[in-house]
Amino acid sequence: MTARYDSGDVSPEPLAQPLQFLSSGRTAKNRFCKSPMGEVLATWNPKNFSEGGVPTKQLIDLYRRWGEGKDSWGIIVTGNIATQWDSPNAPGDMLIGPDAQAQGERFERFKDLAAGAKANGSLIIGQISHPGRQVLAKINPVAVSASDVQLAPNKGMSYGKPHAATKEEIAHLVEGFAHAAEYLEKAGFDGIELHGAHGYLISQFLSRSTNLRTDEYGIQNTENRLRFLTEIVIAIKARVTPGFIISAKLNSVEFQEGGVTPDEAREVCETLETLGLDFVELSGGTYENNGMRWEKESSKIREAFFIEFAETVIKALGDDRKLKVYIAGGLRSVGAMVNALKVVDGVTLGRPAAAEPRLSSDILQGRVRGALKPIEPFESEFGMGSLVAMTQISQTANGKEPLRSGDPVTMVKFREDLGKWFQAIMADGNKMEVVGGVKFTGPETPYGEVVAQA
Ligand SMILES: Cc1cc2nc3c(=O)[nH]c(=O)nc-3n(C[C@H](O)[C@H](O)[C@H](O)COP(=O)(O)O)c2cc1C
Repeated sequence: MTARYDSGDVSPEPLAQPLQFLSSGRTAKNRFCKSPMGEVLATWNPKNFSEGGVPTKQLIDLYRRWGEGKDSWGIIVTGNIATQWDSPNAPGDMLIGPDAQAQGERFERFKDLAAGAKANGSLIIGQISHPGRQVLAKINPVAVSASDVQLAPNKGMSYGKPHAATKEEIAHLVEGFAHAAEYLEKAGFDGIELHGAHGYLISQFLSRSTNLRTDEYGIQNTENRLRFLTEIVIAIKARVTPGFIISAKLNSVEFQEGGVTPDEAREVCETLETLGLDFVELSGGTYENNGMRWEKESSKIREAFFIEFAETVIKALGDDRKLKVYIAGGLRSVGAMVNALKVVDGVTLGRPAAAEPRLSSDILQGRVRGALKPIEPFESEFGMGSLVAMTQISQTANGKEPLRSGDPVTMVKFREDLGKWFQAIMADGNKMEVVGGVKFTGPETPYGEVVAQA
């Protein structure tokens, strides 16, 4: 048995409350959201990307498992789905290019994924994205971005050379997002989330450090910085039905550099509210600084990394706020999740949802009072924790229980496998034939045979 986070005997009841979205009129059955996590389990053809990016049986089974039970996650957001054939974020990401047809193999598999995830009333939301300047150079050496600010090589990865998007390119990119949203609605998804966080393309337009433009997409004012996102939302709204949920994941850092004024945060969120977004998921960090750690004393106590940013946004929006706000990152114990609900409307969990696909049910049914606690460095280092999460996701997808990252013996084995995986990635170079995360070779248990214990 491995340790759990615990905050004492706090009732999970506030987390069980439904949440109604005011623009679409849809309701999430509880306050939990499974964070988007790139699964890298779709089909992949390194020579022709448009032939890959199709959900596999494993990926479909994975989402069915996240959707299992009456207390499954209120919202399930998929890992990022690329909206242009030439720019997946990683080999194995799901892909819906601008000319993908709403029929045939790809479409049928997206339909299967949605149907499994929502079988017990979870809302299934597709996260649609474009990496912009964060595209790996081996995937696409020519990156499109707001401006030509190069992302420096990092941890053995180098990135495409960015140029400032022309107006034609912007129109094409907007079309990619709109098409993917329409496609997902036809496939049975309940909504989409625009990836505007973690330094992706939408965030490159929002951020003063990556947007140096002086045209109407420039950083002279918030309206201009938001124009790319605004055009995407308007284009999506024109294609989907009013009941389709539109949401966005946003970063705290975009608003902090140069000082986030509550006015600015209010302006951004008011715009999103006026555009008819149902909710925002507030996160933080970029590839350069992921910010995913419990740095300050206050964030250690409150667990959520970006809760102070959420407070600023919510206060600025005022009492007649329509836009619902979820907080992403760092939440582990029921006490901290319930406390977060005093500020925000919902909580999103990433790594804990990879470690335990049934965590929402286990918490709401009172079996556990927090997530499993990994050993160091897997607990505090986001990169290491993410590698474990990727492996756990692929184990669930393959019908196995996720490995226990709080168990030292298991993690010795994982480290060995990690070493082998890293060597394979290095040997693969630019071939891109190695897909997916670390393959765990230690003992495994069939999925469903483990019952969570406090
Ligand atoms: C393996 C992995 C993949 C991720 N992929 C995505 C992604 O595709 N899109 C996204 O917005 N965030 C992604 N994230 C970030 C998570 O959604 C979440 O914001 C982050 O893990 C912090 O939450 P946590 O502390 O609960 O893990 C990923 C995180 C992990 C661990």
